[in-house]
Amino acid sequence: MRGVRMAALALGLACLFGSTAALAATAGVVAEPNTQVPAGNRHYAASGFPDRIVASPSADPRHGFAVAWRTDASVQAPLLEIAIAGDSPAIGPVTRITASTRTLQSENGLSHHHRADITGLQPGTLYVYRVQGKDTWGAWNQLRTAGEAGTPLTVLYFGDTQNKNLSHVSRVIRAGQKAAPGATLSLFAGDLVSGGDHADDSEWGEWFAAAGWLAQETLVAPAIGNHEYFEEFEDTPQERRVLGRHWPVTFALPGNGAGSVASTTYWFDQQGVRFVVLDGTSALDLGTAQAQAGWLDQVLSGNPNPWTIVLLHQPFYSPREGRENTALREVLLPVLRRHAVDLVLQGHDHTYGRRGEGNAATPQFVVTVAGPKQYRLSGQARRTMDPVAEDTQLFQVLDIDGQRLRYQARTVTGQLYDGFELVRGADGRKQKVELTQGRIAPRDCQRAQTLKGRADRCWE
Ligand SMILES: [Fe+2]
Repeated sequence: MRGVRMAALALGLACLFGSTAALAATAGVVAEPNTQVPAGNRHYAASGFPDRIVASPSADPRHGFAVAWRTDASVQAPLLEIAIAGDSPAIGPVTRITASTRTLQSENGLSHHHRADITGLQPGTLYVYRVQGKDTWGAWNQLRTAGEAGTPLTVLYFGDTQNKNLSHVSRVIRAGQKAAPGATLSLFAGDLVSGGDHADDSEWGEWFAAAGWLAQETLVAPAIGNHEYFEEFEDTPQERRVLGRHWPVTFALPGNGAGSVASTTYWFDQQGVRFVVLDGTSALDLGTAQAQAGWLDQVLSGNPNPWTIVLLHQPFYSPREGRENTALREVLLPVLRRHAVDLVLQGHDHTYGRRGEGNAATPQFVVTVAGPKQYRLSGQARRTMDPVAEDTQLFQVLDIDGQRLRYQARTVTGQLYDGFELVRGADGRKQKVELTQGRIAPRDCQRAQTLKGRADRCWE
């Protein structure tokens, strides 16, 4: 109710003091548009300057990574330059790699999307790289290749960003970087943008504006969400989900996934962790759950790493009222159990919730949200998950070495909301230790409805 009362107060102030006071009084309590881009504005159109530069892991990130970037259509097959980082501005010797180029037509016009795969690098080594545009270059970016197995690893993990990326998501990402400046890998749980309203390209522009240097100086490993798909033939018997055009050109992912979903599923090993990324939308809506389960079984068979983390958009156990992803539980979950997956990182439900299964230490299932859209928890989630949260923007920091995986969920202001450690015994078995010291009190939605009047959500 507080938000409603504040909106009413703001309206009252507007009547009393005119438009200037109204602007000041209503900041934050009027429903914002999904982007800060006015209708018809092409602020995020491509130019000859390279932008949307993002690094992603290769299947073996000790020896390589890949970079995607964008320009306008004047640039074809540009170069990426890379060298070992030093303290002098005299960079070199430089290796040059020619990118492959694909085109994309969007509401912001024609753009060229480039991809360069870098191989033959040294493990645990800091490199500089830059990408070419039209008669120009981007900044030199510093990025460290993955170290050998067992070298300590810090990872940032973000739930759905999806809405108001510039306005509200950017501060979560900045808070994450301040909390974990040593992170070398960034995981995103999907629904990076909302899409579906013919404004996808400006949304992606805002996502990159929010991600800032994180996209260029950590390895970004995203899961695809349902909002990166769109509905073809909507509201007809032929309705089906189709992969959005941005996803394949926006990230330079390993492409080592499951058969027909190879562009949206993948795996890589980094410093003693096998990371496997699934496509929950395809599993649930396009009938690939069995194919992904078979592939997952193969990928996790003979896994030599002490730790295994699975990332996907839709949760196995949904904290939101009325959502059940039965096909995930029936088809994919047995594979996770069989291979003793440690941690399952998920999004989609715009709330926070963590649970395990019975008394088992692993897997731990986490649902989280980074962006401002906030839903409500079901009664079942409150009974079966602990801790849970509504109305809270969060990021997660994982610190992993050979013996210990420490998980912390922090709010956008940096406060500890959840934490635990998985400790690996001599026999390889894991024990869970809850980290309760310093956690803030549980957070629940205090509003009866959103500013747009939706009672099933807490914030738009
Ligand atoms: Fe979603």
